[in-house]
Amino acid sequence: MKNNFRSKKVLITGGLGFVGSNLSIKLAGLGADVLIVDNMLPRQGGNVFNIDPVKEKVKLNISDIRNPTSMNHLVKGMDYVFHIAGQVNHVDSVKNPLNDLSINVEGTLVLMEALRTNNPGAKVIFTGTRGEYGSSLSLPVSEDHAINPIGIYAITNFAAERIVLTYHNLHHIKSLCLRVTNTFGPRHQMAHNEYGVFNWFIRKAMDNEVIPIFGDGRILRDYLYIDDLVNSLVMIAENEESYGDVYNIGSGVPVSFIELANIIIKIAGSGRVEYTDFTSERKALEPGDYYANITKIKEAIGWEPETSMEDGIKKTIEFYKKNKKNYWE
Ligand SMILES: NC(=O)c1ccc[n+]([C@@H]2O[C@H](COP(=O)([O-])OP(=O)(O)OC[C@H]3O[C@@H](n4cnc5c(N)ncnc54)[C@H](O)[C@@H]3O)[C@@H](O)[C@H]2O)c1
Repeated sequence: MKNNFRSKKVLITGGLGFVGSNLSIKLAGLGADVLIVDNMLPRQGGNVFNIDPVKEKVKLNISDIRNPTSMNHLVKGMDYVFHIAGQVNHVDSVKNPLNDLSINVEGTLVLMEALRTNNPGAKVIFTGTRGEYGSSLSLPVSEDHAINPIGIYAITNFAAERIVLTYHNLHHIKSLCLRVTNTFGPRHQMAHNEYGVFNWFIRKAMDNEVIPIFGDGRILRDYLYIDDLVNSLVMIAENEESYGDVYNIGSGVPVSFIELANIIIKIAGSGRVEYTDFTSERKALEPGDYYANITKIKEAIGWEPETSMEDGIKKTIEFYKKNKKNYWE
């Protein structure tokens, strides 16, 4: 991988969370001057231990992306802004949709305004979600698939994506957006099951507990290991031609929930599956099968996933075995 990040100034919003911290570690390793902004709201993925390997190298500012005073100051002089902060908790999103709107939409707007007024030369990379597509009309899902988000979380992510691209078009702040599939790996919160299922299944297996499978477990999903997502972020940020555009990030490989649970149980050597009915809330928000068409990003930058699901699970279990006390609550 080429490295244009040495001595570059990079702001990472949400840098204490799962995606943001893994990216911070990668960019600090490439010699970038990393500043993290994170508000550490309870029950989100923020965890100061996540940046332990680079705590002497990165700067940390505990503040909220919705605070214009902070953001006007923090964006100054940045070469790149990875906008990764977000309200990701699906349960909170249903119970408290206004908070979702506030963090994901207002927060994005405050950030983009801060850039417009203080640093329009920075480049912005935004991580949205594959949930923006809603139920798949055809598979694999490519970027020109219809947008029909089902829940508030996916709606606010889509709104954020459009805000970011509007600032690209209207105010010429170079920005690009990713629609990211379900990602797993080290540094994901493991305290509750209100995020995606993958890391939660890993915890259940490691604790030798029941992994609940809703319905017949045959719904297909696309899972990506975190290092592959981080590589895609670094590579696409360096590609001038990608700004102003949207890319799927995924493995492109369909895996059913039951297959996933069985692979995790096999690798962990513990845990067991139990079938259960969907709760009405989960049923209403379930979009059905999804796997990504990743041809566009492959052709643009030559990126493709390198970690097999088995290797990713092994690395994830190893990490949490070593660091359990910082994640199990
Ligand atoms: N993890 C995935 O599988 C996945 C898939 C698709 C998209 N994404 C997107 O990637 C982004 C990061 O997801 P994640 O899995 O790392 O979640 P995470 O919860 O682990 O990280 C999000 C971070 O943002 C911080 N944050 C939240 N609101 C903030 C605010 N108002 N001000 C400052 N910081 C704030 C949180 O404290 C947390 O550290 C989200 O936007 C999410 O929608 C993630």
